[in-house]
Amino acid sequence: MRSSLQETAAEPLRDAHGRSITDLRVSVTDRCNFRCQYCMPAEGMEWLERSAILSFEEIERLVGVMSGLGVDSLRLTGGEPLARREFPRLASMLAKVPGIDDLSVTTNGWFLERDARALVDAGVNRVNVSIDSLARDRFFQITRRDALPKVLRGLEAIAAFPQVRPVKVNAIAMRDYTEQEVLRFCDFARSTDYQVRFIEFMPLDGDRNWEPDSVLTGAEIRALIEARFALEAVAREPHATARVYRFADGAGEIGFINPVSEPFCADCNRIRLTADGRLRTCLFSIHETDLRGPMRAGASDGELAEVIRDAVWRKELKHRVNEPGFRAPPRTMSAIGG
Ligand code: 5AD
Ligand code: SF4
Repeated sequence: MRSSLQETAAEPLRDAHGRSITDLRVSVTDRCNFRCQYCMPAEGMEWLERSAILSFEEIERLVGVMSGLGVDSLRLTGGEPLARREFPRLASMLAKVPGIDDLSVTTNGWFLERDARALVDAGVNRVNVSIDSLARDRFFQITRRDALPKVLRGLEAIAAFPQVRPVKVNAIAMRDYTEQEVLRFCDFARSTDYQVRFIEFMPLDGDRNWEPDSVLTGAEIRALIEARFALEAVAREPHATARVYRFADGAGEIGFINPVSEPFCADCNRIRLTADGRLRTCLFSIHETDLRGPMRAGASDGELAEVIRDAVWRKELKHRVNEPGFRAPPRTMSAIGG
């Protein structure tokens, strides 16, 4: 036995492998206005029904229960989070949840020009923008939207607020695509204060085209960079997913998120809540825990806390992407929340 109801408020979330869980990612919608190749099919996505999606009040309540269990860092994702109507209002509700002291957003950047100020006013203190190419035609090719100029304007709009730092740019790392982007992103990282991070392509794509060889590994990208620039490793912060390097001449940093080639599961402190109210204890979970059902059936906060505790206790030891017989989860990235 792990805990009784009375202990709920005091004891932080732990799993059976000794990890404590303090970081929650909430997908606020499964919808998106982009169709990135590594995430969604070009057409034919089926969306969750409106009634299946958690209301703002339901999200606020679950975040409150989890913050009572020690979650202090919250990231809002999608789909595209800013595509949810009144998203800044939701952000502002969640920023006020006691115990949440870091509120960040991962976005494709399309709506940032419109929403940057509202997000800052709401209390968002960090933003990650996904940009896979700095060339307009190649951006179009990968996202299936001709949106690079608008996304770059959005990035500038949010970076204009000094209270939002660091501003990170996420670029997918795919073989036969990203090689040509590497030096452009180095110039970008060296001439701005954005932290560019390359994220290895994971088997969460809607088209199910992922194969081991389609990943351009962090080590391969680093070798491409080091042929041109000297890099120095920056000490890794606890639970950081990125391996960060600085340019030895002092001009900026570059990061590598290598979930496939160098899994960081042992150090994982994350859980995820889907837009339809399922708790996922791993990106690659096959099992999910329904929180919406009990909540709508009238469960108390204490009862929800117990359901969450039990699910977290069973958090997967690690992902098995590199093992024979690996099965991709039924949900793809946009329905999980990155
Ligand atoms: N592999 C790696 N990263 C992905 N993302 C979306 N799908 C994948 C995938 N299959 C990224 C997005 C965004 C973050 C939420 O996850 O580009 O930066
Ligand atoms: Fe949309 Fe993000 Fe998926 Fe691209 S990766 S389709 S921006 S949810």
